[in-house]
Amino acid sequence: MSSTDPQGLQVLPDELASREAWLEPFDWYREMRADAPVRYDPARRTWDVFRYEDVKRILADDDTFSVNPRLADEFQEPDRPEEGLLFETMLFQDSPRHDELRGVVNDAFEPRALRELEPEIRDFATDLLSEAVTGEDGTMDLVETFAYPLPVVVIAELLGVPAEDRDRFKRWSNTLVEAASTDEDTKEFTERQQAAQMEMASYFFEMIKDRRETPRDDLMTQLVTRERADGSRLSEEEALGTSILLLVAGNITTTNLITNAVRCFSNHDLFEELRGDADLQTAIEEVLRYRSPVQAMTRVATEDVTMQDETIEAGDRIIVWLGSANRDERQFDDPGTFVPDRTPNQHLGFGYGTHYCLGAPLARLEAAVAFEELLERTATIELVDTELQPTRSSLIYGVESLPVTYETAE
Ligand code: HEM
Repeated sequence: MSSTDPQGLQVLPDELASREAWLEPFDWYREMRADAPVRYDPARRTWDVFRYEDVKRILADDDTFSVNPRLADEFQEPDRPEEGLLFETMLFQDSPRHDELRGVVNDAFEPRALRELEPEIRDFATDLLSEAVTGEDGTMDLVETFAYPLPVVVIAELLGVPAEDRDRFKRWSNTLVEAASTDEDTKEFTERQQAAQMEMASYFFEMIKDRRETPRDDLMTQLVTRERADGSRLSEEEALGTSILLLVAGNITTTNLITNAVRCFSNHDLFEELRGDADLQTAIEEVLRYRSPVQAMTRVATEDVTMQDETIEAGDRIIVWLGSANRDERQFDDPGTFVPDRTPNQHLGFGYGTHYCLGAPLARLEAAVAFEELLERTATIELVDTELQPTRSSLIYGVESLPVTYETAE
C-alpha cells in the first residue's frame, strides 16, 4: 500500500493505514459522512471531503478548486522533491492550458473512434484467455493473466507501439504506477522508478521523432502532428508527458475495474445471470460506484471557502473521496448494496466536470469486451478463499492478485 503521493506527502489517512481498513473503507466513510463530512487532518495537512454533494461541488468548480498541486502551500516548502513530468500534463493543469492539451487527443477517445479498436481489444482478450484458461478446469490469478496485461496492450496498440516491444512496455508501466510503499526502501524504489522512466522516455522520444518524419495511423502521430487552436503543435516534452499520462491514468485503473467487477459479480452470484439477460454495461457501472477503482482525488483551494461550517483556506490541500460520495445515502438508495441493474446511477467513479476521465469510453469498452470473452470461455468462475492484498498505488482501489478457479465452457 502506498503512503505518499508524487509530492512526498502522506495521502491515506491513518484510519485507512491497515490492510483491512483500506480494503473495506466503506463503514469509515459512512461515519465520516455523518460526523465529519468536511474535516481537516493535521497529520497530512489535508482536508477530507466525504459527501456526494460536496465532492461534486468541488469537482464542478475548477476556479475555486485547482488541480495544480504547485498551488498548495506545501509546495512553498524548500524540501519539496523535484517536480515530475506528469505535472505538466492535462491532469494537473487548469484551463486554458488543460483544454489545449486535452483538445489534441480528445477525439481519439470518443466512442465512435473506439469502435474501430474493438476487434483488436477482443483479439487481445482472446489471446490472453486462451493462455490462461486451459484444460477443463483450473486456477488462475485473474490480475496477472488477464486484468493487468489487457489495458497495457490496448494502450500500447493505440499509441502505435509494435507487438515485439509490448513486454518492455508492460514492465515500464508496472514500475510507473507503483508508488513508494511503506515497507520498501524509498531510495531504491526511486532509483528503480527513475531508471524505468528514463528508459521509457528515450523509447518514446524515438517514436516521436519517427512519427514526425513518417506519420502513421496511430495516436502518437496524432499527438505530434495535431494542431492546437492557436496553430502550434505539442512539444516533444508535452507529447511524452501525455503518452505517459495515458499509461499511468489508464492501466492500473482499468485493471482494477475488471478485478473489482469479478469480486462484485462473484460475491453476488451474478455470472450466471450475466450469461443470460442481465445487462453487463449496467452492472459495470455499478462496480464503478460500489468499488470505485479511483477512491479519491486531490485539489487545492485557490481562495477561502466555507463548506459544512468549516473554512478551507486558499492554498489548502483537499482530498475528495469519490469512493465515499458513491456510497452516500443522500444520493443513492440502499448505497451499501450492489444492485447490478441500478438506474439511474450518477456515480462519480470517473470524476466530474472539466477533468472528467478522458478514457471513460475506453475503460467501459475494455471491461465489457473482457467480460464477454471471459463468460464465453468459462462455465463457472469462483473466488479462491485467500487473504487479499490492496493494490500498491495511491488512492487506487483494488487487489494485487485475485486467484479464481474456473471450469471451461463446453
Ligand atoms: C476504470 C478505469 C478508469 C477510472 C476509474 C478512471 C478515473 C478517472 C478519474 C476519477 C479522473 C479524474 C481526475 C481528476 O479529476 O483529478 C480521470 C481522469 C483522466 N483519465 Fe481516467 N480512469 C479510468 C481509465 C482511463 C483510461 C483507460 C484512460 C486512457 C487511456 C484514462 C485517462 C485519463 C486522463 C487522460 C485523465 C485526465 C483528464 C483531464 O485532466 O482532463 N483513464 N480518470
